[in-house]
Amino acid sequence: PDVSTTIISEPTKPIMNSTVTSIDLEDGPLFPASLIPSEVITILPTDYTIRPILRSDFHRGYLDVLRVLTTVGEISEEAWNKRFDWIRSRNDEYYLLVVCDGEDRVVGTGSLLVERKFIHSLGMVGHIEDIAVEKNQQGKKLGLRIIQALDHVAAQVGCYKSILDCSEANEGFYVKCGFKRAGLEMAHYY
Ligand code: ACO
Repeated sequence: PDVSTTIISEPTKPIMNSTVTSIDLEDGPLFPASLIPSEVITILPTDYTIRPILRSDFHRGYLDVLRVLTTVGEISEEAWNKRFDWIRSRNDEYYLLVVCDGEDRVVGTGSLLVERKFIHSLGMVGHIEDIAVEKNQQGKKLGLRIIQALDHVAAQVGCYKSILDCSEANEGFYVKCGFKRAGLEMAHYY
């Protein structure tokens, strides 16, 4: 979008937690599933799940869900695996999660990137990115659950705030998720 705003969430009680570990199985979850709060899991529609992304989500329609957000391009399984493994090698930096329906299809996704700073006493900032819910699944609070889960992960791993950029059209959604307008996005495309 041409016009974007920066939106910010400041978890009131960030929990410092250094127990985040990597799981190195070929199709293991990208991050520990225990970081996703049970309050969010139990409130999903019946038979829906929310969990860390798996390498095998390539076959569950993950990229098609992202296509509601923007262009994705044609990505081969080999290219997907290569990128997935790169992301996994940054195991405490990337937190990508998915929502699946009762037929085990990916219907929603969202990402959290954790930036480590020098300022604010080596503070950590969460960047919320690429939130997408399949068109015919929108309006079921799946987007809200994705943000609640990512917010919780951010607080758990020690972020003092999370920020995101969105279009004016989506501001209302993020306000309902507890975020507030906090600046102006600028971009330099290459
Ligand atoms: N403007 C205002 N309010 C909204 C909007 C909106 N665009 N979208 C949803 N809401 C409201 C809902 O009405 C609901 O309110 P309620 O609690 O009063 O009933 C609340 O926000 C929660 O809505 P959900 O049902 O959780 O929203 P949904 O599952 O449809 O997901 C999303 C919202 C992610 C924006 C979805 O519509 C989508 O995928 N859109 C296309 C891709 C996109 O634009 N993604 C965001 C890009 S910005 C980024 O990634 C950082």
